[in-house]
Amino acid sequence: MFVDNLTELQSLESWSTRKTTAICVNVIEETHDVKTFQFKTEQAQLFHFKPGQFIGIQVTIDGERHNRSYTIASSPTRPHVLELTVKLDPAGSVSPWLHQNIKVGSSLELRGPAGRFNCMDIKSNKVLLISAGSGITPVMSMARFWCDQSADKDIHFVNWSRSVQDIIFRRELALLDHQHANFNLEVVCTKPGLTENWLGRRGRLNKNLLLDIVPDLHERTIFCCGPEGFMEQLKTCLQQLDFDMSQYHDETFDPGGKKKSKLAAEKVEAQKMRDEKPDGPFNLTFKKTGKTVIVEADEILLERIEAEGIAIESACRAGNCGCCQVKKLSGDTNTVNEIGLHSERKQENFILTCTTRLESDVELDI
Ligand code: FES
Repeated sequence: MFVDNLTELQSLESWSTRKTTAICVNVIEETHDVKTFQFKTEQAQLFHFKPGQFIGIQVTIDGERHNRSYTIASSPTRPHVLELTVKLDPAGSVSPWLHQNIKVGSSLELRGPAGRFNCMDIKSNKVLLISAGSGITPVMSMARFWCDQSADKDIHFVNWSRSVQDIIFRRELALLDHQHANFNLEVVCTKPGLTENWLGRRGRLNKNLLLDIVPDLHERTIFCCGPEGFMEQLKTCLQQLDFDMSQYHDETFDPGGKKKSKLAAEKVEAQKMRDEKPDGPFNLTFKKTGKTVIVEADEILLERIEAEGIAIESACRAGNCGCCQVKKLSGDTNTVNEIGLHSERKQENFILTCTTRLESDVELDI
């Protein structure tokens, strides 16, 4: 895993973006409930991705498989190690498992990267990075990426944290602020606590505070990540300030790594699918090879495609990223979550295979 000669260093390959087994090489306690896990591949490889993107992980807990998406916190300018910064959600299942079980030497299966929320596809020279809580990870990746390259960008970074103890990457942010003249940092604590000697700003997000912190926000492209309530509040503020929303980009993940707004609906839908699923089995035909296989009604389409050895992209495996889409030529299917599928693609009959089961014989354009 460790490279210490130039020839080897220069010949390192990029990681597989389909499925990679990564080994944990370090665990950093960022705050009382946030840990950063650093990963490498078994044979040294380079992690290439776009800052802001996420990867999918799959873990098995008590015999049940769980798929989650976590934004990559590290920067592709330091490609030897991939970092996932995970906040413990005591009510969740995956983040407590990661906090408890991922130690130096543990392995984890990664898929991806994926995600349109990134600073390579969305370009701007004057940016405002806004984050709340553990939503800091994608914008931290962007900040690291630009600062590592001394990029000619005007960067304003505003982070909302609950208390001083909850500020993730606090020392590194202060260092970036100190070392880069084009990087301006503002940390706001909503509840600093009486015993905390916090001299910075405090209070909840509102339009006056926002404008006070970033008077030139109308000239900036905004990248925001945080809890859903925070992002809704920010959008309301921006609309009240007549901000051009075409310059606003966001990403929402809950601490458990799933799109929060979809969680409850997904569970209900999944149960509905189990209750109402047609009997099956069904014929699944792959147009390009002409092969037809028998598929049970409860099989996840993506897993079956993979089992047949057909190359298909995947990352989140939860309907969020859109990686696993294929065109359906005929038949009925049931998809639990398709937030990652653009409406135009839906109209063209594309489906997300990671959240889809068959309800009749189906033909796919692969
Ligand atoms: S793998 Fe992300 S939507 Fe299917």
